[in-house]
Amino acid sequence: MANAATARPPGTAADWTIPQDWARYTPKEHAVWDLLYVRQTEMLQNRACQAFRQGVEHLRLSDKGIPNFEELSARLAKRTGWRVVAVPGLVPDEVFFEHLANRRFVAGRFIRKPEQLDYLQEPDVFHDLFGHVPLLSDPVFADYMQAYGEGGLKALRLNALEKLARLYWYTVEFGLIAESSGLRLYGAGILSSFGESRFALEDSSPNRLTFDLMRVMRTRYRIDDYQQSYFVIDNFDQLLHQTRDADFSPLYRELETLPDLAPDAVIPSDRIVSRGSQKHAYRGKFQ
Ligand code: PHE
Ligand code: CO
Repeated sequence: MANAATARPPGTAADWTIPQDWARYTPKEHAVWDLLYVRQTEMLQNRACQAFRQGVEHLRLSDKGIPNFEELSARLAKRTGWRVVAVPGLVPDEVFFEHLANRRFVAGRFIRKPEQLDYLQEPDVFHDLFGHVPLLSDPVFADYMQAYGEGGLKALRLNALEKLARLYWYTVEFGLIAESSGLRLYGAGILSSFGESRFALEDSSPNRLTFDLMRVMRTRYRIDDYQQSYFVIDNFDQLLHQTRDADFSPLYRELETLPDLAPDAVIPSDRIVSRGSQKHAYRGKFQ
């Protein structure tokens, strides 16, 4: 998502965007997208939330090849007013939030190499488009993302970004949703990951806990492995109202007085959907 300040690379606009240069993708790069798309769509049958599946359809993501940002933005803008813009890599926090607050989703334009299908450090165009963009065509989730951008600008002023970033992590990137047919995925970090999309729903290792705003903002997270805890929302309305319609200033002050929680912690006030064995944590991701 975002990053501490670095110098703006040459060739980027003042808002850090660059042209996608769609014509420069090679057939091999398009083939990597197609492979990831087919594999992941198969994996997500009965695992992705309904809004995601509808988004994929509305945006015609099943068309072959890496999507053209202009065409994708035209379809997305018709639904929710969001657009997708290309950036060279991580951008400063303020730039990132400013884009979100204006309904622009910043996406990487490079695609992973065929030998990196399962793991890569920096988000590429598959993670950013396939993982994030379908949900931006859902009107409620679209409002949540815009409000998050505004909230990010405020958190920067209040020196509370570390807490607010956890909310992004445990919702936008790694969120689960309880649908009538069962638990489903809506977090982009899971939806774009072949391994974690099964792990997050079916493995006995991680905790699955009912979403609680303050609880989430106290919880540290792992960036080097599958998550040890996932938080489950009931629906996007709940998420939107609990965040956009609350003033976080007093919450940030309260958080200053509360200890952080470990990624695998379970505390007495938690509402547990399923308690994890945390077995996976001892093995590590790639063994
Ligand atoms: N309402 C929050 C605040 O006062 C901002 C926010 C909106 C944060 C949506 C997260 C998501 O800071
Ligand atoms: Co992401």
